[in-house]
Amino acid sequence: MQNLTQQLASCLVVVVLLAFVGGCESWDAVRDGEFKPMVTSEPFGQTEDGQAVELYTLRNKHGMVAKIMTYGALLTELHAYDRDGKLGDVVLGFDSLDGYLKGHPYFGATTGRVANRIANAKFMLNGQEFKLAANNDPHHLHGGDKGLDKRVWKAEPLMRDGAPAVRFKYTSPDGEEGYPGTLDLTVTYTLTNENGLQIDYLATTDKPTPVNLTHHSYFNLAGAGSGDILGHELQLMASRYTPGDETLVPTGQIAPVAGTPFDFTEPKPIGKDLKIVGGDPIGYDLNYVLNSSNGSLSKAAVVRDPKTGRVLEVFTTDIGIQFYTGNFLDGTNTGKGGKVYEQYHGFCLEPQHFPNSINTPKFPSVVLEPGEQYRKTTVYRLTTDAVK
Ligand code: BGC
Repeated sequence: MQNLTQQLASCLVVVVLLAFVGGCESWDAVRDGEFKPMVTSEPFGQTEDGQAVELYTLRNKHGMVAKIMTYGALLTELHAYDRDGKLGDVVLGFDSLDGYLKGHPYFGATTGRVANRIANAKFMLNGQEFKLAANNDPHHLHGGDKGLDKRVWKAEPLMRDGAPAVRFKYTSPDGEEGYPGTLDLTVTYTLTNENGLQIDYLATTDKPTPVNLTHHSYFNLAGAGSGDILGHELQLMASRYTPGDETLVPTGQIAPVAGTPFDFTEPKPIGKDLKIVGGDPIGYDLNYVLNSSNGSLSKAAVVRDPKTGRVLEVFTTDIGIQFYTGNFLDGTNTGKGGKVYEQYHGFCLEPQHFPNSINTPKFPSVVLEPGEQYRKTTVYRLTTDAVK
């Protein structure tokens, strides 16, 4: 009985403490495991137009660390254990805000309003034509010249079920980058107790508008800047894909992967068939149709690095996933620790609706209506292949 009273009393202290510190900028929460789960923030420089940027650090009870900044709601670092228990940063990026401001191929970014390509940078909606930036000439890519990845979001630190989190908010005004409707966006990153970086998306609009958000980290499970990812083994829970034309816009067909170099239904080294997939530059850059499409959080991909034993599992509620092998990386980006990122030095697994859906009536719609909620969840979980 006395024990119970003591437990209740300590719970109360914790609740009061959390309520007290909840509004602070930097705070620690209950010790729950080897490490104290926490969220801290620090200044991370200024944009060219003088907006202050903050960097949030999440550390979970196992000591795994994620850093996300308010510029682009963008993941800058993700430190995960290898099979020997050594932490390493597994996402490409820069040491300072400057690198991101100079321009980069969407490292770690929240991309949208519509991720991937919109053919010929235009679409029709309810009888009206909308023209967008042709920033991937002649197409529109990842939200345009100044998409969500180049906006400064508002951030709020949180604890969710004992796990550190940060909630980002941004209101994209009507007409921004050519898209109709005021779009209210919330993107919440949580570093779960299961070592998953969970990303929850929520959007609402006041006019019909296309929405297709994704996360654009370039992963290298051997560590950012450690070389190419061609030896990583990938399995995709997708037996079909959307073939694309030479400009990477889907033709509208849905085809089986069986018998093609795109087949990752069984684990296979990424480099095994890479030279025969074609493309200019050569490499994987295509959308897969996920086997599970009922909106539940389902496993979409597993990647294992045989060298370090790190394993990445991707779970999503979305229906497609873009697999991209960093084909366009060409050494022009010098990243963290002065490491130069060359072709195939990272891979992206971007859960999303199919590219160019807004112009492809056969594909599931990406139009969000007023009164509806766009909701989606993706989890990037990092474990190892070590036998326990
Ligand atoms: C696209 C690539 C593009 C890259 C960086 C990926 O999502 O599929 O074609 O080069 O983003 O912009």
